[in-house]
Amino acid sequence: MEYQFPEIQRVNINVKRHPGKSNYAARAEKRKSMKSIRGDVSYVGGGSYAEVWANNQRTPQDVRKISKTSKRHQIDGFYFFMMELEKHDENSNPYFPRFRSIKIYTDEGPKHRASKLDSMTYSTQIERLTHLSKLSEDQIKAIVRRIFGVSRLDSRAKDIIYNIMQLNKTWDLALLGLIEATRKGLMGTSPPSPPNKELQWFVKQIQDQDFVQALQFIIDVKIKHGLHFDLHDDNIMVRQSPYGGQLVFSDPLSGEGSNFSSEPDEFI
Ligand SMILES: Nc1ncnc2c1ncn2[C@@H]1O[C@H](COP(=O)(O)OP(=O)(O)O)[C@@H](O)[C@H]1O
Ligand SMILES: [Mg+2]
Repeated sequence: MEYQFPEIQRVNINVKRHPGKSNYAARAEKRKSMKSIRGDVSYVGGGSYAEVWANNQRTPQDVRKISKTSKRHQIDGFYFFMMELEKHDENSNPYFPRFRSIKIYTDEGPKHRASKLDSMTYSTQIERLTHLSKLSEDQIKAIVRRIFGVSRLDSRAKDIIYNIMQLNKTWDLALLGLIEATRKGLMGTSPPSPPNKELQWFVKQIQDQDFVQALQFIIDVKIKHGLHFDLHDDNIMVRQSPYGGQLVFSDPLSGEGSNFSSEPDEFI
């Protein structure tokens, strides 16, 4: 089951010609999916940058994520995330979403727009994932055991894990705390963050290298494009499989204007 990242389709449109103006592409996509099977299209969720829709009859395994154009003046971290995935082999890392298709619409019309991003919107089909909050305590513990290789760890590393887990009220928050600890351990090597020797050591003990590499990739994209981490419980989801849950960083970065702290210390 080799996963192949799809070829991104780039479509130029002149939004000026269309009555929907700047969010023409997003609206057209929405209308198309709504019309195809009435009553079976449902709204799954949405944040500052995108709306997510499901067509339960036609594509029950997938969702469609459509960018909103109303806040185009802000930088959409997900766009850069997709652009970097397209260029790198990490796009098949199991911690990243399985994209089925990606369509980027660019408005080639008016020249006076502030930046290219102002006139860009996208529609992408992505595997349907499960919210972290739907998992049982046992399922989350199994994920933690598998990522960190808890049974093989020495007592110092186990203590770090138990301390973080105890500081958090719920199991999903505890898992987020462990992700943040890993991120901090990795960031310690990238200035200007102060090195945290304990967490740097901890990261080296982690069993699942795909997990470490996925976070390193997110850090690299964040730094390259001046974004913020957005690793909260609605942006980290789960792929269900017969072998248990696989974490997926579904929306790991945000641009300016996010009200989520870039240093969520409360998790650690
Ligand atoms: N692949 C997916 N499967 C199921 N639900 C999803 C998926 N991607 C996103 N969602 C839901 O839609 C919401 C918004 O999507 P997200 O990717 O976080 O975009 P943004 O925050 O930029 O609007 C998520 O919080 C989640 O509830
Ligand atoms: Mg989000």
